[in-house]
Amino acid sequence: MSHKAEYLPDRGTSISSILQGGYNHPLAREWQSEKQLTKSMFIFPLFVSDQPDEEEVIPSLPNIKRFGLNRLVPYVRGLVDKGLRAVILFGVPLAEGSKDPEGTNADDPNGPVIQSIKILKKEFPDLYIMCDVCLCEYTSHGHCGVLDEDGSLNQKLSVRRLAAVAVNYAKAGANCVAPSDMVDGRIKEMKLGLIEAGLAHKCLLMSYSAKFSGGLYGPFRDAACSSPGQGDRKSYQLPPTASGLARRALARDMEEGADAIIVKPSTFYLDIISDAAKLCKDYPVCAYHVSGEYAMLHAAAEKGVVDLKQIAFESHQGFLRAGARLIISYFTPEFLEWLD
Ligand code: PBG
Ligand code: ZN
Repeated sequence: MSHKAEYLPDRGTSISSILQGGYNHPLAREWQSEKQLTKSMFIFPLFVSDQPDEEEVIPSLPNIKRFGLNRLVPYVRGLVDKGLRAVILFGVPLAEGSKDPEGTNADDPNGPVIQSIKILKKEFPDLYIMCDVCLCEYTSHGHCGVLDEDGSLNQKLSVRRLAAVAVNYAKAGANCVAPSDMVDGRIKEMKLGLIEAGLAHKCLLMSYSAKFSGGLYGPFRDAACSSPGQGDRKSYQLPPTASGLARRALARDMEEGADAIIVKPSTFYLDIISDAAKLCKDYPVCAYHVSGEYAMLHAAAEKGVVDLKQIAFESHQGFLRAGARLIISYFTPEFLEWLD
């Protein structure tokens, strides 16, 4: 008997157990992925304040800064030069007395969001400009809608106000409005508002349909100064255990006229991304790798628990594998370099 024969698989039973030949080379490993990360999948969150010359480090959100209107263009130019395709804007009013119960400043024509849209469109005509639509950054109580006297959300007033804000962002030239408030009925109100304004064919409506409440938004709220003064968001954002509600919200938002949908957060919600990819198979599905997830990976890398680049790839590849086509990510600047 030849020496080699001992290592041969048992004929007839073991052929399917030999897989490693299929991925023994870096190129072959690439062939095994159904989807690969590309620059055009990435959407970068930009925090823009009403302090024109601000360039403020956010300690809980590594490498991310909040910019004033005068500082935005040079920063964004560096990223566009590296292949940035899309941004999502978050306005941050810091001026004394700029918040009120209705979030009036959300669509202030001279405020940071509407001004950023105009400046960015002019400087970077090919950049896709999305706007997060919410009131929590602008309301004195810090909640995402308009409140009743008992402190609960007034659904009618909230959706009316949110839709007005969305339409005003679209009028200013936003390519996409993305409501993150989670108030019932806002997608329909916004779609009708866009249609009435003659803008429905110019502006994509991307719904944060499956947005869960939880512990992962802390650094964002530091950056956007948007923590609720009293109470929490559990009566409008989904409970972390509620996959059924998430599927109902996805179905509802498609019915109400959403053009694309967001699942948020991402890492702990891969099953929801997968549900969304199936349920919304004719829609672009976007995963939002939120501030707390980003900060956790940085913290783990600092502790030497993980390698930052490796773990960033692994997490974001996970979103694609689960079914996402787009990713809102604070890692976008890094990926623009890594994907060269
Ligand atoms: C506004 C909004 C939030 C995020 C996106 N839009 C905060 C919240 O709902 O409290 C969170 C994004 C992140 O954590 O990166 N409603
Ligand atoms: Zn909000």
